[in-house]
Amino acid sequence: MRIMQAQMKSPEEILHLFDTKKIDNTWSFVEYKPSDTGKWTHDYHRYPAKFIPQLVERLIDEYVSDKDAHINDPFYGCGTTIVTAISRGFKASGTEINKIAYLITKVKSTPIEPNYLEIKIKQFLAKVRYLENAQTTLFNRTIEPSIPERHIDRINYWFTDKKKIELGKILRVIYEEEDETIRDFFLVAFSHILKNCSIWLQRSTKPTRDLEKNSVKPYDALDKHLKKMQKGNKAFYDIVPSKVRDNLDDYLNIKISDARCQPVADNKVDLIVSSSPYVTSYEYADLHQLSTIWLDLAENLTEYKKKFIGTSYKKYENKKLRSKLALDIVNKMLEKNQKMANEIEAFFIDMEKVFDESFRILKNGGRCCYVIGDTRLKGVDISNAEVFAESLQHSGFKLNRVIKREIPSKILPQKRDEKTGKFASNDNANSEAYPVEYIVIGLKE
Ligand SMILES: C[S@@+](CC[C@H](N)C(=O)[O-])C[C@H]1O[C@@H](n2cnc3c(N)ncnc32)[C@H](O)[C@@H]1O
Repeated sequence: MRIMQAQMKSPEEILHLFDTKKIDNTWSFVEYKPSDTGKWTHDYHRYPAKFIPQLVERLIDEYVSDKDAHINDPFYGCGTTIVTAISRGFKASGTEINKIAYLITKVKSTPIEPNYLEIKIKQFLAKVRYLENAQTTLFNRTIEPSIPERHIDRINYWFTDKKKIELGKILRVIYEEEDETIRDFFLVAFSHILKNCSIWLQRSTKPTRDLEKNSVKPYDALDKHLKKMQKGNKAFYDIVPSKVRDNLDDYLNIKISDARCQPVADNKVDLIVSSSPYVTSYEYADLHQLSTIWLDLAENLTEYKKKFIGTSYKKYENKKLRSKLALDIVNKMLEKNQKMANEIEAFFIDMEKVFDESFRILKNGGRCCYVIGDTRLKGVDISNAEVFAESLQHSGFKLNRVIKREIPSKILPQKRDEKTGKFASNDNANSEAYPVEYIVIGLKE
């Protein structure tokens, strides 16, 4: 049942609630080491702004009692929520527009019998060991590098000739693997090493070249990373209940599609744990371009980018915002910058549709938990969390709880470039991305 108007918190009440909210230190999880946050399959692949699994685990602990629960994430990213749900023997569903994120999440959520995987990795590494020699043949057969022609300019931009050929040969060997589960496992390892093997400026959140970079050898990087993944798989395999391992298709339902359309029937989901993209922050499509070009995941990068919520490529002509707080932000931004005002409006309109969809798929008594931070762009406060709190109510939710947490500094770059509004790691950035974020929780009564 949709909540009555009288039960809704007014925009003023919401602002007051957030103004007076204290940080809850028990949600910072600072005591966890990288080996805890990267346990099981969680460290298979880097991903910007990914959850730490302990946050998802705690929300599940607090809100899920049904042993056959169904957990959903409309922006699953590299799959932290999905992996956690599978580890507990729950159903997991969700959407993601980023194709490489789908591959990563699929592989991270698929436990592989450890002995079988060990043999496959050994065979694979034996095959690719000698590929760095220019004239390499494999079992008297010349290996023709697999290099996607249509992205050759981008590949030449990011990789030296030697690395390009070597990576292309490795990719060819991966594509020859007949077992799809194993092939995808290798592809994730391949995708993960690309950045280190390229001249992409290390630790930069923006695509920048470093012509001086001493990039690593593909074989060495692959060997190291595959062994790490193998260990992660073993730990994950041991934790996933056998009923899930044996019938994974009944439990794992993840799609490459838009967050406004979930692959789930009405009233099925117990808990949603998600974090949306931020308006004009990361360009996820740009950040993953090395994987996108090598694995040939997008015909046209510019068209592909337009599908991402929160990108700077959107403008709606005839759609209206329901949230008054969002409208206020858009109006303030209109005085500073029309284009950015359009982008912010489009972002909040898209998110209203996502919340409608969350309401549709949740059971009565189910909750959605959206993790989001506030920002400041061109001198205007972008109170994302406050807007989310108001918008969830317009979608029918009761605003159930707001948790304010500190973000460990290693996870989010703290600075934004004032001109573009994008996260920047350089010292010239003079606008702030706040080191706190909120978990905004809506209840479907
Ligand atoms: C903050 S990240 C989620 C990270 C995730 N919680 C994790 O642990 O990896 C937000 C994600 O939203 C995705 N996204 C952007 N637009 C989308 C859309 N229209 N539909 C579905 N996902 C989208 C981005 O690709 C990005 O992976």
